Amino acid sequence: MKTLTGKTALVTGASRGIGRAAALALAQAGAQVIVHYGRGAREAEGVVAEIAASGSRAHAIQADLAEPDGPHRLARLVRAIVGERLDILVANAGIAKAATLEETGVADFDELFAVNVRAPYFLVQQLLPIMCKGSSVTLLSSLAARAAVGELSAYAATKGAVDTLVRHFAADLGPRGIRVNAVAPGVVQTDMSRFTRTEAGRAMTLGLQAIKRLAEPEDIAAAIVFLASDQARWTTGTTLRVDGGSQL
Ligand SMILES: NC(=O)c1ccc[n+]([C@@H]2O[C@H](COP(=O)([O-])OP(=O)(O)OC[C@H]3O[C@@H](n4cnc5c(N)ncnc54)[C@H](OP(=O)(O)O)[C@@H]3O)[C@@H](O)[C@H]2O)c1
Repeated sequence: MKTLTGKTALVTGASRGIGRAAALALAQAGAQVIVHYGRGAREAEGVVAEIAASGSRAHAIQADLAEPDGPHRLARLVRAIVGERLDILVANAGIAKAATLEETGVADFDELFAVNVRAPYFLVQQLLPIMCKGSSVTLLSSLAARAAVGELSAYAATKGAVDTLVRHFAADLGPRGIRVNAVAPGVVQTDMSRFTRTEAGRAMTLGLQAIKRLAEPEDIAAAIVFLASDQARWTTGTTLRVDGGSQL
């Protein structure tokens, strides 16, 4: 259903994985989509081509979100394309680093917080001037924010910060008619969770979940489209678990 016809959307980290699936699903629902990428220019152009082939509009833009001014640069590029109206922001780009407490170094810790927390924070700030009544922001949290799964304490802390930001942003921006939510996937078959490609990783993942199959990026994209749509008009300030019933 074309529930997002006439809307403009930005998806960060849309060259691969969950972001790619979200960009395709938002375009399928009728939105014009800006496909942000970091290093994957070729992959992002592939997503744009796929969207164009299905009859919707899309553009690819690059920004390194580990850089302090990355979100500011990205916001300027977005404004040059959409002008004065952004309806949907999906701040999806993220990195994970599996390491024990003893192994985690300061540089890795800082990079995790730069990409997963600082970038979405300043992206929302920089894009606020072009968000309006009816706009929505969706951030990416994780099962790791509420459960000790894997050696992921630093990564998990970034997603705990995302859950906190969702509540504060939603309270701040609600009076302007802007909704802010997060989706919290469990384990999803992407480059980030490549351990699912081994038999042991697959068994471990299925052991966490009520539903006994591996999640595809499209399973998460469906929830992202829902949160961006008018169907979610009364939903704000929440983290939606989209994890096949993980760690119930
Ligand atoms: N997969 C899971 O199991 C899982 C579970 C829970 C939550 N999540 C969250 O879901 C989101 C997407 O994860 P995914 O599994 O789809 O990851 P992925 O397949 O590894 O893709 C990550 C995306 O983020 C972009 N990115 C990473 N660092 C960047 C940087 N410094 N600057 C700009 N872009 C950058 C990448 O762009 P380029 O490749 O173009 O550089 C890529 O498009 C993340 O926030 C992740 O924490 C994932």
